[in-house]
Amino acid sequence: MKDKIILITGATSGIGFQTALSLAKMGAQVIVTGRSQKSAQEAVTKLKAESKNERVDFLLADLSAQKNVRALAEQFKARYERLDILINNAGLAASKKELTEDGVESDFAMNVVTPFLLTHLLMASLKKSASPRVITLMGGDVPAVLDVDNLLSEKSFDGLNTYSQTKLAMMAMMYEFAQREKSATINVCYPGQASTSMTRSVTPEMLPRAMRFAFPLFKWMTREDGGKSAAKASRSSVYLASSKEVQGVTGKYFDTNCKEAAWSPAVMDAGNRKQLWKIVERMFK
Ligand SMILES: NC(=O)c1ccc[n+]([C@@H]2O[C@H](COP(=O)([O-])OP(=O)(O)OC[C@H]3O[C@@H](n4cnc5c(N)ncnc54)[C@H](OP(=O)(O)O)[C@@H]3O)[C@@H](O)[C@H]2O)c1
Repeated sequence: MKDKIILITGATSGIGFQTALSLAKMGAQVIVTGRSQKSAQEAVTKLKAESKNERVDFLLADLSAQKNVRALAEQFKARYERLDILINNAGLAASKKELTEDGVESDFAMNVVTPFLLTHLLMASLKKSASPRVITLMGGDVPAVLDVDNLLSEKSFDGLNTYSQTKLAMMAMMYEFAQREKSATINVCYPGQASTSMTRSVTPEMLPRAMRFAFPLFKWMTREDGGKSAAKASRSSVYLASSKEVQGVTGKYFDTNCKEAAWSPAVMDAGNRKQLWKIVERMFK
């Protein structure tokens, strides 16, 4: 991995940090993104110390706004000659309906628009790599049905159900991207559940009504564990980034055990994909 340049979004903590750590230990040049100078600098210092790899750096971007995604891509292109691996790790599970500055529901913006736009903007850098890879992280449940009439929470916002719907929409977009773009491999992986700032900020109201009684169990499962579960959950991203087994493999979905898994029927529905592609393209500013 020593000759690889890797960009990982949302890697100052959680699963992204652990992914960065494993890949830095393998000798790759790793660039992490975060929103604040302080947390990014701290993460880089820790990554360098723990990996004994000095080729770790950061770029700042709040990825909820398209102008920042564009600025991140520009900064990356100005600094690095090419991109071998892009890991779209940053994601959002919002507790209530909020619109980004682009006027897009925030889960949809972070989980669908941002990874799609960033991948698109960095495609020229990826094409300079001998074997470019794009990896995007899936959420928890994989719904069988995409609620196409409520993609942007126009009708209702429903906590983790909304989050799962946006991750399903992302899967459909990435599957379609892989069919259209053959110069990079484009895959999706599910990390598995981990204790991170995302899961620790889940409130009972975000769980489906019928599951709220189990909130104490959820809290217990996502208690602070010093990054242990996040390290475990980084396996599938690390596998897709580094394994020779997936050289040339594209348009696939891998589970937390790094095994290829079936796409949801909603992803296989070409009508869904066509509709989504149009909606997302129209959002670009
Ligand atoms: N944790 C789980 O159990 C779980 C399960 C299934 C799937 N996933 C998926 O795995 C991925 C990583 O999850 P995680 O739990 O590690 O997430 P997390 O704890 O929320 O990740 C934190 C990272 O995301 C960055 N970040 C947060 N909001 C951002 C924004 N608006 N713009 C840019 N960066 C932002 C943070 O940067 P700063 O705070 O430094 O700015 C930090 O680097 C996500 O896509 C998530 O959906 C997680």
